[in-house]
This record gives sequence, structure tokens and C-alpha cells, in this order.
Amino acid sequence: MFIDLSTLSPNRVYFTLIQTIIPRPIAWVLSDNGTGAAQRYNLAPFSYFNAVCSDPPLLMVSIGKKPDGSIKDTRRNILERGKFVVHIAHSGQVDAVNASSADLPAGTSELDALGLETVAFGDFPLPRLRDARVAFACERYQVMEVGEQAIVFGLVRSAYIDDSIAVADAQGRLQIDALGLDPLSRLGGDQYGVLGQVVTRRRPR
Ligand SMILES: Cc1cc2nc3c(=O)[nH]c(=O)nc-3n(C[C@H](O)[C@H](O)[C@H](O)COP(=O)(O)O)c2cc1C
Repeated sequence: MFIDLSTLSPNRVYFTLIQTIIPRPIAWVLSDNGTGAAQRYNLAPFSYFNAVCSDPPLLMVSIGKKPDGSIKDTRRNILERGKFVVHIAHSGQVDAVNASSADLPAGTSELDALGLETVAFGDFPLPRLRDARVAFACERYQVMEVGEQAIVFGLVRSAYIDDSIAVADAQGRLQIDALGLDPLSRLGGDQYGVLGQVVTRRRPR
């Protein structure tokens, strides 16, 4: 099958891309809506997400608009306050990740609705989810508007890695146990993926 994407509607292009570029990592993003109240923390998943640079350490998340055309809460919070936390969810958190994508009214916290606990993240002003095995404390680095999307580049200031999945190798480099991290990923439609098998190959010199 040959598909000329210029003949497809944006919706069809979307479905073609998200069902073929798989699995996609999921950024489970905590941001601050600035109310200073108990409902101040917003949480939502984004699978247009990846690491893009290590010097400086940057990741990117591409955030669209709500069906009514308004800006998604995470996007607005990052634009207005600049700080956010990206978590890597494990497979046991699939229901919470999925539920946190519900379009709640701005100012209503997914954390409360889902009963998720947070803990302090060093001296970063935002907390991290207690039960996520990896979290990144990020600052807005640059935002590029592309079509309806805002591609947010986040500068990773610090990382939390659960001790149970991290060991140092003989050279003192951090080794993360991929199966222990057990990252949830996004497939097409309503599907999620979990790691099945890890295969190892040394890169040729
Ligand atoms: C697994 C998953 C991945 C998603 N990835 C994206 C994405 O990459 N970009 C996006 O704009 N929305 C994405 N969404 C939809 C948002 O999570 C959803 O619009 C959410 O309500 C946004 O929340 P907010 O308004 O609190 O920021 C995804 C949803 C799910 C379930």
C-alpha cells in the first residue's frame, strides 16, 4: 500500500502516524495551574514525547489543543509558569495514566480525582508522583508552535530514579534495569504497550 499523505485529512494523517510510529514513550506531565490551592497540580499523558539532546539535556513534548480549540491545561501551565515534571509510568499505572487524560475543567486536579500521592522533588518547586520510578524536573527551554501543536522543549534540571532499578556498572556508569522500569508505552488507537523482551547487541566499532 502506498499512501500520499497530502490526500488525507489531518485526522487520517494522525491515525496513520500514531498507529505506525509505535511504541511511543509516554510523558506523564505534572504542571502547576498557579492557583496555589489544593487543586493546583495538573497531570496528563503525552506520547508525542522524546529525548532530543543531551548537552543541554532536553526532552520534547508536543501538546495540541482541546476539541473546542482552547489551549490544553498543561500547555498553558508550562507557558505561564515554565516548570513541569515528566514521569515515566510503569505498566501497573495504565489505568491512572489513561484516566488522567480526561478533559477535566481547568483548576480541577487529576491527582485528587485519582488519589495519586506526591512527594517533594529535591529543591524543585513542584513535587513528583511518589509511585513513578523515573521523574524529570524540567524547565521550559523553548516552545515552537507548529500547526495546532506547541512543541515544548524542556531542560531537564534533575532526575529521580528509583533505587530498585538502578545499579552502577564497573565504570561507575548508571545502569537502569529496563524490565524493572517496566515503562508503559502508547500504540495506536486505545492501545498501550508494555515491554515484552529485551534484546542486546553490541554496536559495531
Ligand atoms: C496515552 C495518551 C497519550 C496522549 N498523547 C498526547 C500528545 O502527545 N499530545 C496531546 O496534545 N495530547 C495527548 N493526549 C491527550 C491528552 O492527555 C488530553 O488531551 C488531556 O486531557 C490533556 O490534559 P490537560 O488539558 O490537563 O493538559 C494523550 C492521551 C493519552 C491517553
